[in-house]
Amino acid sequence: MKDCANDFDFCTPTRVLFGKDKINELPKVLGAFGKKVLLVYGGGSIKKNGIYTKIQELLKDFDLFELSGVEPNPRVSSVRAGAKICKEQNIDVVLAVGGGSVLDCSKIICDAAFYDGDAWDLVIDGSKITKALPLVSILTLAATGSEFDCAAVISNPDTNEKIGILNPLNFPKVSILDPSYTLTVNKKHTAAGCADIMSHIFEQYMVDGTNMVSEGLCESILRTVIKFGKIAYDNGSDYTARANLMWASSLACNGICALGSDMAAWVCHAIEHELSAFYDITHGEGLAILTPQVMRYTLSAKTQARYAAFARRVMNVNIEDDNKAALAGIEALEKFFASIGLPKTLKEVGITDELHFKEMAEHACKCFPLHLAFAPLAPSDVEEILRMCK
Ligand code: NZQ
Ligand code: ZN
Repeated sequence: MKDCANDFDFCTPTRVLFGKDKINELPKVLGAFGKKVLLVYGGGSIKKNGIYTKIQELLKDFDLFELSGVEPNPRVSSVRAGAKICKEQNIDVVLAVGGGSVLDCSKIICDAAFYDGDAWDLVIDGSKITKALPLVSILTLAATGSEFDCAAVISNPDTNEKIGILNPLNFPKVSILDPSYTLTVNKKHTAAGCADIMSHIFEQYMVDGTNMVSEGLCESILRTVIKFGKIAYDNGSDYTARANLMWASSLACNGICALGSDMAAWVCHAIEHELSAFYDITHGEGLAILTPQVMRYTLSAKTQARYAAFARRVMNVNIEDDNKAALAGIEALEKFFASIGLPKTLKEVGITDELHFKEMAEHACKCFPLHLAFAPLAPSDVEEILRMCK
């Protein structure tokens, strides 16, 4: 592992309002962009926990339009529906209320509002995004970091594709992060969120070169998720645990943890996006299944010191030999995932065939530069990893 201090150019233009009742600032926040608001949300959790009613009260002087039913693993059909409302109603600002799926869908709605062709064009060719409506988000699930980054991941069931895009125009203008809105997240999605946050960190930590600042940030976030993930899993209404997870999620995916480090290839995400695209599984569960097996498959003379550092500094493994420490760290990670009910095998999430493994492996390597990863992978390696997860 080499110490490195690469150049960087970094900006996160999202204003963060963090804490209880920050939603009260919503009228002022939205008013800065206009009166016509498109409220985007998912399958109804915001109606059950009262956020929807609160928004109606706060925005009684606004023209409020709605797009509901955004799916987990959001589909391009929802983006199309949202963009249509924006164009027809001359929407001024989009308000996304939900988890990463709602936020991601809303980001591309904001872009597609100014695009004459089909929204899927923007997902497969980000250069077509030239202008976007302002986006304000209210996060209800700590996981993806979409509230503080410019990424969006959209699925197209017609082509079995799930594609991520990064575009600076897609940073939310403002994100309201009230941890109390995550108290109602069930055990399954609390755990999946933890696996996702941890995976975002792993993807940036397992690189050729890094620096002390990045390492410290990464290890601190991993320890935070392990401690507070278990507390939130056991007691969903623990505010402190939810608050720690929420801020960890925001920091984990916006690039700040990897500044100055070498390029990351996002190996587990590349493979997980294929699992979700073909089998529509929960993103964090897919990552929890893949991560230990990817580490096991790629454990080598090159990677073992890095994996051992994770084992010692995050999982409290006390073994001198790097290879043995690395293996003990992988086992400890599996134990942590099991302690919060995460699946270990593809079978547990209903994937019992290998029908698409070859195609998935090839597509993963096409979408992400896996040949440049810390432990470079070819399609045949990805296929083997998928088989190890069975
Ligand atoms: O749809 P509703 O009814 O709101 O229910 C959701 C959904 O069923 C529920 N939920 C959310 N907040 C809740 C709640 N239930 C009770 N109380 C609350 N407060 O949780 C379920 C899952 O929601 P979803 O938004 O799908 O989860 P998540 O935040 O994990 O988002 C996953 C999506 O984000 C993408 C993933 O690939 C996946 O499509 N990602 C986005 C990234 C980004 N933009 O940077 C990076 C990630 O790596 C990831 O790929
Ligand atoms: Zn993720």
